Amino acid sequence: MALEITPVTPVVGAQVSGVDLARLTDAEFAAIRDAWHRSAFVLVRDQKLSDDDLLAFSRRFGELDPPPNQERGRISPPGYPDIYVVSNVLDDKGEPIGALGAGEAAWHTDMSYLDEPPDASMLYALELPASGGDTWFCGMQAAYAALPEELKAKIRGRRIKHDGTYNSGGYLRQGVDPTDDPHKAPGAWHPAVCVHPVTGVPALYLGRRRNSYIEGYTPAESEALLDALWAHAIQARFTHAHRWRIGDLVLWDNRSTMHRRDPFDATARRVMHRTQIKGSARPVAYAA
Ligand SMILES: [Fe+2]
Repeated sequence: MALEITPVTPVVGAQVSGVDLARLTDAEFAAIRDAWHRSAFVLVRDQKLSDDDLLAFSRRFGELDPPPNQERGRISPPGYPDIYVVSNVLDDKGEPIGALGAGEAAWHTDMSYLDEPPDASMLYALELPASGGDTWFCGMQAAYAALPEELKAKIRGRRIKHDGTYNSGGYLRQGVDPTDDPHKAPGAWHPAVCVHPVTGVPALYLGRRRNSYIEGYTPAESEALLDALWAHAIQARFTHAHRWRIGDLVLWDNRSTMHRRDPFDATARRVMHRTQIKGSARPVAYAA
């Protein structure tokens, strides 16, 4: 088996084949890390990873972030506090074993409501429904490069408030007061256009739509501008829908992608284990 890297689409994603993530050489790891920086997400299929393997691979990228606070707090498999379970499955008491249920998860960047969001997130597929539950990725570097000049001018030098009230499934995070006022909501301010710390490529940094706000505009102006930016960014030409197979591992660069999830049959089982690589710095503004 020799490592091979092929693009998933012309603008986003790289598939890496010919590797076993549980027995990775340093050279193979370096190739995967480069592909991740350049292509914004990396897909590796046909893996057989234990939670220890998933943690060991994740830690090669750096320190891990604890799981996000979701609708029922932070849910991890027993003994693995750095792994977060994304699942609709109920345990024998009828409680969900993970977060996000079976509904749609709206477009977002993971945990951008923190001052230092994670650099990366990865999902490993353990159980899947027969259909539905595709995870979509949006290439925010390509979206910025193609942004009309008029919109670039409107966001130049500005920051966006990223909301920490609701998660991508629309659930209120545990212990957070509900609000739809971006100024009262917990969250963080980040530059609207950020530069990738390794490649130097600029990306539009939108985070999530709900409770978002662009500084320096009236609420109505901000809403109109956000609608225009979002309509531009999530066009089909910048996105890709990943159809999962058991044993898929997908690692995305949280600084240059957004993702969303399609809903799926709530009576089917879907179990994913996720890890996150701690942010190495605050997102840095792009100086055009
Ligand atoms: Fe996410």
